[in-house]
Order: sequence, then structure tokens, then C-alpha cells
Amino acid sequence: MRNPAADDGAAIREFLSSLADALAGSAEPPVKAMETRIRGAVDAAGADMDRMPRRLPACSYLPAAIATARAASGAIARLMDAFAALEPQLCWYCRTTTGPHASDNWADGHANAVIIGPNGVRSRPGLQIGISLLAPHVRYPDHSHPPEEVYLALSSGRFQHGTAPWFEPGIGGTFHNVPNITHAMASGAAPFLAIWCLWSAGASRH
Ligand SMILES: [Fe+2]
Repeated sequence: MRNPAADDGAAIREFLSSLADALAGSAEPPVKAMETRIRGAVDAAGADMDRMPRRLPACSYLPAAIATARAASGAIARLMDAFAALEPQLCWYCRTTTGPHASDNWADGHANAVIIGPNGVRSRPGLQIGISLLAPHVRYPDHSHPPEEVYLALSSGRFQHGTAPWFEPGIGGTFHNVPNITHAMASGAAPFLAIWCLWSAGASRH
């Protein structure tokens, strides 16, 4: 069945262009490399057309999270406008496996969606782009994956990777995870929103 929310591609092109622009402020080489890959994906081929849009209970926090992010800067506001236009096409899902240190409410308190990659809006070899939403006071489980990763924070949530202490990039802040590093994220009193960009020859689901 064709996805009834599929459009002519304008929404995904604007999302990818505005995401690349949002990453452009970083001088970190891994972030610059990801920005280049994202610009190269703007005209990526269509993905699984059997995909059906779906929202989860945690998606009720999405309007508040988007509104907070939108107020941060012009570049993030543009990205959030692009994301909001694209969101009706997304198939939100819960992570199927847990991990150490997850809060008791994490399973019902989160939602993930792939934008570029399997079950996403477009496909691009080696590249996956997705988004994670946490309800307030949720601690996502420790996890790791072979693809390297660039995060773009869209809320005031906290992150942890490797043996480093927890840190807060702030809205519009970016950071890089090397392959297979253990990492986690957590919300405070507000909903948490972040975009993740995975890169490897064999990218796997977040
Ligand atoms: Fe990750």
C-alpha cells in the first residue's frame, strides 16, 4: 500500500538542507563530514513505500519540544518547521531492547523515528538519520552501535558517552560518538528532542 502521507519530496529536501545548515556551525571534522554527507543525500532515492505513518503515546510531547527548539535560533526554527512538515510521514517506534541504567518509565516514555534509512522517508547507502523524543524525567538505556554518530541537540537534555561525565550541549549543540562507544541520553523536567545521524558502510538502527 502506498504511504498516504508521501509527498513530492519537497519536505524531505528542506529538512535535509536545514539540518545540514544547522550542523554547519560546528568546526569539528566529524560533524563537518556528516554535514557533507547530508547535503549529498538531499536528492536521495525514495525509501520503503509500504511504510505507514504511526505515532506513539510519547509523541504527545512533540509540540512542546518543537516549540522550545523553534525559539532557540533562526536556523533551528527553520529546521523545526521542516521537521514539522515531514513528521506526518514518520513511523515512530520504540527501541526493542533495553540496557543498563534505563529509568523505569523509559519504554513508554520515548519514541524514535527513522527519517533517512530503513522504514524512513528516503534511503541513502551508509547513512541513517533519525530523531529521538523523551518524555520528561526519562533516562534512555546505555547502548552502542557500530556506526559513528553525530547528534544535534534540540532541547536542554543531557548526554553521556564513554567514560566522560554527563554534559548538556544546549539547543543547536552537536557532538560526535565514535563507533561502538557506549552512550545514553536523559531528559529533565522538559521533553527531550535530538536528531542523530549514523554513518557506516553497514549502518544499523538506533
Ligand atoms: Fe546512538
